[in-house]
Parts: sequence; structure tokens; C-alpha cells
Amino acid sequence: MTNADLEKIVDTSDDWIVQRTGIRQRHIAAEGETTSMLATKAAKAAMDNAGVGPADIDLIILATATPDYTFPATATQVQAALGIHQGVAFDLQAVCSGFVFGVSTADKFLTTGSAKRALVIGAETFSRILDWNDRTTCVLFGDGAGAIVLEAQEGEGTTADRGVLTSHLRSDGRHREKLYVDGGPSSTQTVGHLRMSGREVFRHAVGMVTDVMRDAFEATGLTAKDLDWFVPHQANMRIIDASAEKLGIPPQTIIKTVDRHGNTSAASIPLALAAACADGKIKRGDLVMIEAMGGGFTWGSAIIRW
Ligand code: UT7
Repeated sequence: MTNADLEKIVDTSDDWIVQRTGIRQRHIAAEGETTSMLATKAAKAAMDNAGVGPADIDLIILATATPDYTFPATATQVQAALGIHQGVAFDLQAVCSGFVFGVSTADKFLTTGSAKRALVIGAETFSRILDWNDRTTCVLFGDGAGAIVLEAQEGEGTTADRGVLTSHLRSDGRHREKLYVDGGPSSTQTVGHLRMSGREVFRHAVGMVTDVMRDAFEATGLTAKDLDWFVPHQANMRIIDASAEKLGIPPQTIIKTVDRHGNTSAASIPLALAAACADGKIKRGDLVMIEAMGGGFTWGSAIIRW
């Protein structure tokens, strides 16, 4: 769905959307196409890429704010669709920060020996919770899914090791009113629609993500100059550029896909990772920083040796 398509639905313009957000188009799931279907496709692609099969995965974490149903967890439906019958699968709800939370959680399972090989998926159908009469939100979001496979391996305990080198998660529930969905099983018995005070979220975003990025640098002794790639949550080009500039991250290392995907919440980072791998940018051994901020508020960062 292009910005021109949106001009026919609400009082907006391609100029406004591009200038304020950098978004040029977003993808909308087909009628009847659910989050679990998108997630399953992404998971299969990641498993093929990693050369692993259904018998190899013993942990599935699906980050989503748009589950197929209130329960069971969408992750269990993906598990079944992939033919995986062992291990554990569960959903993780941290909205736009969901993938970073998922990577961090999977890493804890792997480093403690609770799991050997994890599938971390970010998948969303935000088009289903948008108010298509509200131009301040409906132009911003899109649908999509992405996934990675993480495997436990012995390392040297240095930043030369492959895998998740550090992760830092935060939340502060006092910010609910700035970004929320106005429905749910326990409150309204409806699904509800996304509501956001964009300017308020924007005001907090840069400070929050740069705080947790600094935490990641401090924990590892790495600096912005050491990064091969910076893969931020893709919500708004201006937030991405301002965060990178604040920490001295070289512009040529920033992966930006917000122009083609819009904000796909928990799917945005793995979609950007997939695009950067397909483009031949991210390669084995590269140092990659991910970060995100979203409803709650929740926010987090991780540094991964690819
Ligand atoms: O992933 C979760 C985190 N979410 C985010 O990171 C989103 C953070 N926020 C943002 O990205 C930006 O705040 C927005 C893109 C949502 C909005 O940009 P802004 O520069 O903060 O604009 P604004 O909300 O201050 O609105 C400016 C004007 C308003 O008109 P007035 O009051 O100045 O006359 C809006 O009514 O733009 C108007 N406007 C629009 N105009 C055309 C709002 N939405 C639209 C629209 N088309 N779609």
C-alpha cells in the first residue's frame, strides 16, 4: 500500500508522510492471512538459511502484539505449522520492542543451557488494529514478519564470540496513555484500535533508545566505531537518524527499511536484518547493534556478533 493509496482513504499526502516519517509504502496482509501465517513463512526461511530442521529447534519465541487469537499463544500455532513437537513455544508482548526482548530472552535460555536452538520471530498484522479513519496513526504502520535462529555454542567469553554479546531491556508503565490499544479481553471484550500521541512518543524515543545503546557499549567496552551495522526499530527515519547522530554512529552503517515497510512493530528489526542479509550487507562475523522502543513504554538494545 503506497502513500498515494492512503491519500484516497484519509486526508493526507505523500509529501507529509515522507517528510515526517520517511515511509513510502507498507505491506498489508491479505484477507484471511494471519500473524501465524506470516510468522511461519519467516520462520521457514530463517530455518532454511541456517540449515536446521524441525527436529533442531527447542525454543520458539514469537514477539507480537497482534496474535491470531487471545489464546492459545500464536507461537504454539507456528510450532505446529512448522512440524516442531518438542521444546517450548510462547508469545512475548513488548509491542515494538518485542524482537529485542525476544532475542534477549532466547539468549538467557541458551546461555543457561535451558535450550540449544531458538527461533525468535517478530510478526505483526497491525493493519487489523488500526483505525483507518485516523490519519495520525493509519499511515504509519504495516504488516510483516521476520525471524532468526540462535544456537548455543561454546565461546571464549570475549566480544569476538558469535551470538548475542549483550542485551539491555527496560520498561516504564507510566507511559501507557501515549501509545496503547483501546480494547482487550479483560477490559472491553473487544480487540480495540491503536491510539498514539505521536509527538509525545517521539519526544521520549531518542533519549530512551540512546540510553540503552550506551548501556550496551558500556557493558562490552565496544564503541559506535566498532559496529559494522546499526539495525534500529523502523518507526520513523527522523528518530533513527537522530539516535545514530547522538551516539556518533556512521550513517553508512545504518540499515533503513522504514521507507518500504513502514512501522511493523516487532517485525521491523528482523525484516531489516533479512533485507540487509539479502543485500549482502550483513555477513558472518559482523558486529550488529539492534534497538527498539515502543508501547508500555518498553525499550531495549542488543549487540550481536553475526
Ligand atoms: O513504534 C512505536 C513508536 N512510535 C513512534 O516512534 C512514532 C513516534 N512519532 C512520530 O513518528 C511522529 O510524531 C509522527 C510521524 C507520528 C508525527 O510527526 P510530528 O512531526 O510529530 O507531527 P505532529 O503529530 O506534530 O503533527 C503535525 C501536523 C498536525 O497538524 P497541526 O496540528 O500542526 O495543524 C497534524 O494534524 O500534521 C498533521 N497530521 C497530518 N497531516 C497529514 C497528522 N497526521 C497527518 C497525516 N497527514 N497523516
